[in-house]
Amino acid sequence: MNYDQLGHEAVARIAAAGDLDALESLRVEFLGKQGSVSALLKTLGGLTPEERKETGPKIHGLRESVSDALAARKADLEAAEMEARLATETIDLTLPAPDTPKGSIHPVSQVMDELAEIFADLGFAVATGPEIEDDWHNFTALNMPESHPARAMHDTFYFPEQAGAEKRMLLRTHTSPVQVRTMLERGAPLRIIAPGRVYRSDSDATHTPMFHQVEGLVIDRDIHLGHLKWTLETFLKAFFERDDIVLRLRPSYFPFTEPSVEVDVGFALETGPDGKARRVLGGSGDAPGHAWMELLGSGMVNARVIEFAGLDPSEWQGFAFGVGVDRLAMLKYGMDDLRAFFDGDVRWLRHYGFSAFDQPTLSGGVGARP
Ligand code: PHE
Repeated sequence: MNYDQLGHEAVARIAAAGDLDALESLRVEFLGKQGSVSALLKTLGGLTPEERKETGPKIHGLRESVSDALAARKADLEAAEMEARLATETIDLTLPAPDTPKGSIHPVSQVMDELAEIFADLGFAVATGPEIEDDWHNFTALNMPESHPARAMHDTFYFPEQAGAEKRMLLRTHTSPVQVRTMLERGAPLRIIAPGRVYRSDSDATHTPMFHQVEGLVIDRDIHLGHLKWTLETFLKAFFERDDIVLRLRPSYFPFTEPSVEVDVGFALETGPDGKARRVLGGSGDAPGHAWMELLGSGMVNARVIEFAGLDPSEWQGFAFGVGVDRLAMLKYGMDDLRAFFDGDVRWLRHYGFSAFDQPTLSGGVGARP
């Protein structure tokens, strides 16, 4: 067989291929599974060693020149195609650009940014802790020993008990375990807020199984209730962007604070533009047309908690508070169903979400700060 001639013919046909489709059929014809050159390569197996020495290089040479020719023609055709496109295609730069959908900042993230910013001005750092907690940090160290009735009030999601495990694992029911962790890690003095997710087995218009809290903690010498009251007033006025926020402090009970203080905020009931009644914060709840709303729990950190956290309560004391972040967002931005926060409905997010670029309120948003 005249392999040289075969090669010349193949290379000539390849060089004459008019487009990439024609070139592809030629590739299949020569080098495909059933291709003629492939078939020749297969015959090598049936030859004697001498015959193979003589014919092998010729067939391999043929295959090489065919695949070189295919590659060269392919490059030429592609270059020609690109040139043709460049010659005919034009882009009209005067047309408006297509609209790119933009994401928005979720109200919870927005409010967390605002909180971090307000408390940073007051000298508080942001602390975090795990959402999968153990019962020691979530309860025991917060002065709720096993069988303490307050444990039952928390509707806790427990993980299955593990044989031999010292501590029972759970989804933290509040951000207060971060108090204990931060005191143990950093000692005193301390000024922190701890925003984050918490979990309780509860679901209706104002409760979701997962929600957000922010914990505040100050540990120092000579801290008293006056510091707590001033801090909460300053924070809430800055957060709601109103100077007429009026607080009412009521005696309460939490195992981890003593004394414990429930904080109410005064509001007026007004009719909104949609005809629906809405709560507008500000003014004393005792004024005509006003009422009180329970807003957060707080108190002086219980000496036992300070001890559990490895500090000497005769030297260090402080205050703590815990408030629902989602609730703060609802009050400030006027949403009425907590469940919508976590449905992931894009229409809701477009309506209530915040632009990362033009902030309507005091926070620049994390991404927008210089
Ligand atoms: N951890 C409490 C709760 O989730 C709130 C709280 C925090 C109360 C700190 C007092 C002090 O209900």
